[in-house]
Formats: sequence, C-alpha cells, structure tokens
Amino acid sequence: MSWILIDTAKEGDAELELYAKDAVYMIRANGFELMNGFCHDSESALGRRAAELAPKDPRILLGGLGLGYTAAALAEALGPAGTITVAEFSGAVIGWFHRHVRASVLPDMPGNLTILHADVGGLLTASSQYDLIVLDVDNGPVALVTGRNADLYSAEGLQSLHRALTPGGKALLWSGFESADFARRARLAGFQLSCEPFGRGRPELSHYIYVLGKA
Ligand SMILES: C[S@@+](CC[C@H](N)C(=O)[O-])C[C@H]1O[C@@H](n2cnc3c(N)ncnc32)[C@H](O)[C@@H]1O
Repeated sequence: MSWILIDTAKEGDAELELYAKDAVYMIRANGFELMNGFCHDSESALGRRAAELAPKDPRILLGGLGLGYTAAALAEALGPAGTITVAEFSGAVIGWFHRHVRASVLPDMPGNLTILHADVGGLLTASSQYDLIVLDVDNGPVALVTGRNADLYSAEGLQSLHRALTPGGKALLWSGFESADFARRARLAGFQLSCEPFGRGRPELSHYIYVLGKA
C-alpha cells in the first residue's frame, strides 16, 4: 500500500503535507520527508535523552511538534515533574496531531505538557528562561522547513539560545548529519558541545543528537 495524501497546508514559505499508510503518518515539508511514523526511534531517543539530562522540576522548551514522538517520549520519561512547552509554528500540524495522530502517539495528554502555536525562535526572548531546549524543527542545523529557521543556527541565534538557558542548562538538537560549521558556531556562542551518534552501524539510522551545554 502506498502513502495516501490526507491534507496540505501552507505556512509562510513552508508547504506541508500529511500522508497516511496503515494508520501511520508522515509529514513532508517542501517535498522532503520531515517525519515518518514508521521510523521514529531517534526522535523518541531525543525525548528520552532530554529527560535524562533534565534537572529537578525542569522548564523545558521543545520545538517542533511534528508527529509528537519526541514530546511523547520526553513526557513519559519525565513524568509529572516540571513543565514541557512544545512550540509548533504550523497550526495545521497541531490540528493534524490532535485529529489523526495523538490517539496512537500520546493518548493521554500529560498535565505538565502544553502545545503552543508559536515559532520556537520567537520564544527565546529573555535570559534564563529554560533548563532545557530541545530542537527538532528541520533535518539538522540547516533551514529546511522555512527559510526563517536559518536564524536559529546562526551566530546570533545560538547566542539567543545560550542566553535563554539557565546556568548549567542544555540545548539538544536532532540532526541527520554532522556539521563542523554548526559545531564551531556553537562553541563560539559559549557552548560546550558533544555530538552523540544514534544507530551506529546502521546507515539508514545514522542520526545524531547534538548536546550543547551552558557552563
Ligand atoms: C522534524 S519535525 C519534528 C518531529 C518530531 N520530533 C516528532 O517526534 O514527530 C519538525 C516540526 O517542526 C515544525 N517547525 C519547523 N520550524 C519550526 C519553528 N521555527 N518553530 C516551531 N516549529 C517548527 C514543523 O512544522 C514540524 O512539525
């Protein structure tokens, strides 16, 4: 059975599509596969890794929602402690999540999790706002969904990210590739950086979690 197109949406310069196959969903952005419910191991691992690194009663910001696998894994591993704000810039994606996906991925909405219709970059406005910031909005530190996301990975964007974290806080970034340029900019912004490979030895699963620590 092939993928069936369920809905399309336009959000600024982003063309988004929701597909379904056997009650599993896939989102494409600008023709590229952004998230596929048949392979979400690394996105779920990102959520669990964030929970491992979280301090007591953490304030966590997660961008974006997608199909909700990272949010669900994070909420499950964290339990009721702290708060999780999920920022998703597309109202259509939030609607798709509630109408089609949530019943299988996050049937019981935890009381400490809020889904906000917002650009994650627009929430990084003040200092020491979050203990953890988890980013999975593109395919890695290169704008894919919307050109505006380039700001997130720029020198200025990384400085805002650094400022928005509490001392000792961490930012995690899902990536499908390693980027020496991104690592250099992150270090220049003041982060200590590690790149954790996921699915080593299985090329189709060669994904990475960048962990950016604020001293
Ligand atoms: C790769 S998917 C996220 C997959 C998600 N981790 C999961 O488990 O399904 C990226 C999501 O980020 C959203 N997005 C892209 N840019 C964004 C931004 N600047 N702010 C908030 N959400 C954004 C996209 O609409 C999409 O839903």
